[in-house]
Amino acid sequence: MKKKVIIDCDPGIDDSLALMLALNSPELDVVAITIVCGNVPVEIGFENAKIILQRLHRLDIPIYQGEKAPLVRPYISAQDTHGMDGLGESHFAPVPGYEKKEDAVTFLVNALKKERLSIIALGPMTNLAKAFSKDETILSQVDEIVSMGGNFRSHGNCSPVAEYNYWCDPDAAALCYELFAKHHKKIHMVGLDVTRKIVLTPTLVSYMKRLQPEVGSFVESITHFYMDFHWEYEKIIGCVINDPLAVAYFIDRSLCQGFDAYTAIETTGISIGQSVVDSMHFYKKESNSHILTEVDQTAFMKLFLERLTGQKLENTGDYL
Ligand code: RIB
Ligand code: CA
Repeated sequence: MKKKVIIDCDPGIDDSLALMLALNSPELDVVAITIVCGNVPVEIGFENAKIILQRLHRLDIPIYQGEKAPLVRPYISAQDTHGMDGLGESHFAPVPGYEKKEDAVTFLVNALKKERLSIIALGPMTNLAKAFSKDETILSQVDEIVSMGGNFRSHGNCSPVAEYNYWCDPDAAALCYELFAKHHKKIHMVGLDVTRKIVLTPTLVSYMKRLQPEVGSFVESITHFYMDFHWEYEKIIGCVINDPLAVAYFIDRSLCQGFDAYTAIETTGISIGQSVVDSMHFYKKESNSHILTEVDQTAFMKLFLERLTGQKLENTGDYL
């Protein structure tokens, strides 16, 4: 039985790779893609989602444009990391047509009112916070939610303690975690503790090009800028692809291990955007999150390469 899911994202290089993984995975029925301001302004994210869907011949999937700015904080993009175009300065031609429909928040409320759906959140949680605030009853309709965001013991990527999605809109993330606590539900937090272990290297991209030249070349074209950023700032050869792990984990929970905890997001001060994970149960509060701390990198990369290239990997020892 396919899992019906909405992907809320800010494409974005790793979001784009995540969409490619999701749309090449028979376990998922992606009913819609909602775009939020994050890596790039929401209008650019909308155009990038169209580019990815066109490449995969899936422009049948509706895309909804969402919030242009965080709930409270001024909007700060991540175009230094993802390029001004959000696809690593690859500047692919825009996809014509495809008129804009209702906004993402209205769509999220109406879609969840109609049926139970799961959500894979790959960007700041602004759209989700607005939708849940508009009609809190839809929370009971959320089957499962996986959020790429936050960090437990790993250092931040926007400050010593904050990860971008939760730092960009801490008020939205805080509200979502608060509401999930109130409704006795859990957010599966795919944070930097596990995503930092998922590095797409030049060797793996070359391997992809051998497996499936067209897909491999596209991945190369949108990741080389991202790899340069990683070398410049973290001396990593390759690039951390955060969002595809959230999709892979949604598909196969055995890829990651973790624990339940109460989590709150800091919304002010020097640690703004920090996901405060109460692993020692100091606050004596019911868990509202499942925090992932371990990942089987090899199993992830095998799934990722096979799904994107459509090739079965046999002897992967040289690469994985
Ligand atoms: O911190 C990494 C996250 O922020 C990823 O989802 C990336 O795409 C950006 O949205
Ligand atoms: Ca993202």
